[in-house]
Amino acid sequence: MFVSLLGTLGCLTLPDELRPEESDQLLCVPGGQPPLWKFMDSIGSEGLQQGEEALSCPEEGLPRPSDSSELVQDCLQQFKVTVAQLQQIQASLLGSMEQALRGQASPVPAVRMLPTYVGSTPHGTEQGDFVVLELGATGASLRVLWVTLTGIEGHRVEPRSQEFVIPQDVMLGAGQQLFDFAARCLSEFLDAQPVSKQGLQLGFSFSFPCHQTGLDRSTLISWTKGFRCSGVEGQDVVQLLRDAIQRQGAYNINVVAVVNDTVGTMMGCELGARPCEVGLVVDTGTNVCYMEEARDVAVLDEDRGRVCVSVEWGSFSDDRALGPVLTAFDHTLDHESLNPGAQRFEKMIGGLYLGELVRLVLAHLTRRGVLFRGCPSPALLSQGSVLLEHVAEMEDPSAGAARVHAILQDLGLSPEASDVELVQRVCAAVCTRAAQLCAAALAAVLSRLQHSREQQTLQVAVATGGRVCERHPRFCSILQGTVMLLAPECDVSFIPSADGGGRGVAMVTAVAARLAAHRRLLEETLAPFRLNHDQLAAVQAQMREAMAKGLRGEASSLRMLPTYVRATPDGSERGDFLALDLGGTNFRVLLVRVTTCVQITSQIYSIPESVAQGSGQQLFDHIVDCIVDFQQKQGLSGQSLPLGFTFSFPCKQLGLDQGILLNWTKGFNASDCEGQDVVSLLREAITRRQAVELNVVAIVNDTVGTMMSCGYEDPRCEIGLIVGTGTNACYMEELRNVAGVPGDSGHMCINMEWGAFGDDGSLDTLSTCFDASVDQASINPGKQRFEKMISGMYLGEIVRHILLHLTSLGVLFRGQQTQRLQTRDIFKTKFLSEIESDSLALRQVRAILEDLGLPLTSDDTLMVLEVCQAVSQRAAQLCGAGVAAVAEKIRENRGLEELAVSVGVDGTLYKLHPHFSSLVAATVRELAPHCAVTFLQSEDGSGKGAALVTAVACRLAQSTRV
Ligand code: BG6
Ligand code: GLC
Ligand code: GLC
Repeated sequence: MFVSLLGTLGCLTLPDELRPEESDQLLCVPGGQPPLWKFMDSIGSEGLQQGEEALSCPEEGLPRPSDSSELVQDCLQQFKVTVAQLQQIQASLLGSMEQALRGQASPVPAVRMLPTYVGSTPHGTEQGDFVVLELGATGASLRVLWVTLTGIEGHRVEPRSQEFVIPQDVMLGAGQQLFDFAARCLSEFLDAQPVSKQGLQLGFSFSFPCHQTGLDRSTLISWTKGFRCSGVEGQDVVQLLRDAIQRQGAYNINVVAVVNDTVGTMMGCELGARPCEVGLVVDTGTNVCYMEEARDVAVLDEDRGRVCVSVEWGSFSDDRALGPVLTAFDHTLDHESLNPGAQRFEKMIGGLYLGELVRLVLAHLTRRGVLFRGCPSPALLSQGSVLLEHVAEMEDPSAGAARVHAILQDLGLSPEASDVELVQRVCAAVCTRAAQLCAAALAAVLSRLQHSREQQTLQVAVATGGRVCERHPRFCSILQGTVMLLAPECDVSFIPSADGGGRGVAMVTAVAARLAAHRRLLEETLAPFRLNHDQLAAVQAQMREAMAKGLRGEASSLRMLPTYVRATPDGSERGDFLALDLGGTNFRVLLVRVTTCVQITSQIYSIPESVAQGSGQQLFDHIVDCIVDFQQKQGLSGQSLPLGFTFSFPCKQLGLDQGILLNWTKGFNASDCEGQDVVSLLREAITRRQAVELNVVAIVNDTVGTMMSCGYEDPRCEIGLIVGTGTNACYMEELRNVAGVPGDSGHMCINMEWGAFGDDGSLDTLSTCFDASVDQASINPGKQRFEKMISGMYLGEIVRHILLHLTSLGVLFRGQQTQRLQTRDIFKTKFLSEIESDSLALRQVRAILEDLGLPLTSDDTLMVLEVCQAVSQRAAQLCGAGVAAVAEKIRENRGLEELAVSVGVDGTLYKLHPHFSSLVAATVRELAPHCAVTFLQSEDGSGKGAALVTAVACRLAQSTRV
């Protein structure tokens, strides 16, 4: 099945059907040599000046020219780089890096600085089995690895791996072909492993410049290093790989992370005394990544922590800095490459190009008669014939002349002893320059790190990887020596990467797999909160049914309480009125002066929880105390003004000034009040206080007060809605539909008390275990089920219960339960409004949560935000379904094709939440398409409405008296 090619890289194998026709091409390409040249198979044009012909050689060759040592000198001199030039490159690269980090687009930065979504270096606790697919790091080969992470420091399991050579036609063909090839190699590799076909986690090392938008989303910017497959640039390479794996169909492989080879190199670094925060690769191409302060990466909008940035320094090109060091050979190489003008820096350093540079110099010197007696071989004149491996070996001092001789002979040359020595000098010159340039660039990265860490002396470990680093005898020592020279204030240790970065890719994959598993659990947890159209339409229909039953006086979770408010004000009302507003966030006493306009003076008083849940007598005495205080402050003592009482609890009204409290809701539970007439309780408290004279004329629900208040401005306002501590609605119903109130004509406002909707179990299918927990822990279990899914008093608690659950699954807060999160009501609904605000950056969200004492990671912040969004979205949609039911009822009552109606709204949740109101409106549009519903926010509170109801009552009373 396989053809095994034992090359310097070990076992190179290729499935039969993937073999290119010319198999000897593979044999001469250890590690796989990409087809980087434009003029493949033709004689190269290097060193041939115009009109000059390729040399034809006499048997005995040409005599060596007299100026040969000068020629050699001139040629090698070009590869010498001065310290000043290196410093210039270091400074220029640093400048470009900082410009790109700031997101400055003009002039176009010379490096890309691509964030990688790797936020931390490994903990050492990562564990599991991972498949790693490496594409693009080493020449034309693709590597598949099986990596086991033990999670135990110092305990390593050697990875298993296999390398495949990518045929040239695949490297230059259609993208789909390349990814299909990769998928087949994966299957071939896995077939030979004792592993299950299901649920494999794969890390994809893809070493080309990519814009990452997540750990598993990465768009190829442009091919480099001899790859040029069509239809891949601008595409998400993870998706292309997933598609290919699916087409292949043999294994169920989950591609969880994509990383650049530099990142794999850094992440695979053994944990040492100092942090390994730089990953350097000099392989076919060259690049570096390092841990940057997130606040300095403009595109991320994140101000905490660090993020790994891939510099993509291969594309560095600054004419001022690089110009002086570019040789004629560099220009020729670039011109004849697949991507002329691009990756200029990489073309001076990367392993793909070093052999070619050497070849160009050798061919040049041969043509001048300095080498090989002026006799080139066809191979020497063919692009790509001298490989990195040749150069590395020839330069190796331990190789000896015989080895160099043999390599040159393999290239069809007949070297003399002096040729051997000169060839070694050429190799050394090209490679020394490469190492020095690489050092200058690395020094720039180290300066950047030192600067951003504000450290005098930077102690850092640099993980190094790639064949040039690994195989080239002197590259690393020149690199290290030059770095010390250029960045003397940095104390750097160089650590060769383990497993060619495969382990690091597995590390990132482990983290990504954990995050993906967490996301699945999050999605599963939030799924019941995501209601579809059918579910919302069903809520609307159930609400309609419950309304009808309630109106008829039949058993229903909607009480549909008549309010004895029959009309909205007509503008002729006049006078001064007192109003009370009890039951929302604030208890208010108001003085409302109704002339041609309405003037309000009000004061907020607190109702301590001990009073709200103490005895009824205590509560009403407290209310009267507040009124007396208000009257004194307003100079109203002794006056008996008519009073309207907004009392935001379910009351059975027998008239405008009589309301029997059916049951407390929200946080109130004062004893001996349920079943009592609230107006009488207030009057009794007044009597107990003696000195006060008060004339209670009307008791109104806050929904009614709000509708009346908005109705004063807009006569189409026939619905009142509250979404605050609690939730409820009222609307104008046809009197003929209201059982228990005499009269067949006209209207009456009905207090629906919709908070209790579903108390008969009709909402149970929508209710989650979190709703059940909130309900159970409340002071009225089983009651106000609709309200408990919607209103401000409960949303924060629902979120808190979800967060507790996710923590217990290990999804949030690293699985650590905190005391803070166990505390009831710690997560106020106002936090939802703040957290979900679009103007807040994620970092501000995190600050809010940290103030709550929650031990967050940055992944946690996003998840908490999503929990809040799911909970408030469901609330808004349920509320919208309710409003749609009411609007449709009014439309049908009136037999209208289309209804235009306004809703007066109040309540902190509705007003403060950034998206609640628009979600309600959208749901209403969807569920009641024949109703044009306008929402008016009440600006003055429902106290104004209560005063207006009182004013109307007083006007009517006066006219009856007259
Ligand atoms: C207020 C009204 O503005 O809103 C109250 O005046 C009402 O009557 C309240 O109860 C509802 O909102 P919240 O958020 O205060 O419960
Ligand atoms: C090229 C790629 C880069 C990679 C480097 C080393 O420069 O663009 O992503 O890291 O080669 O393989
Ligand atoms: C609760 C009360 C209701 C009130 C609503 C809004 O649901 O029972 O009467 O309208 O809260 O405050």
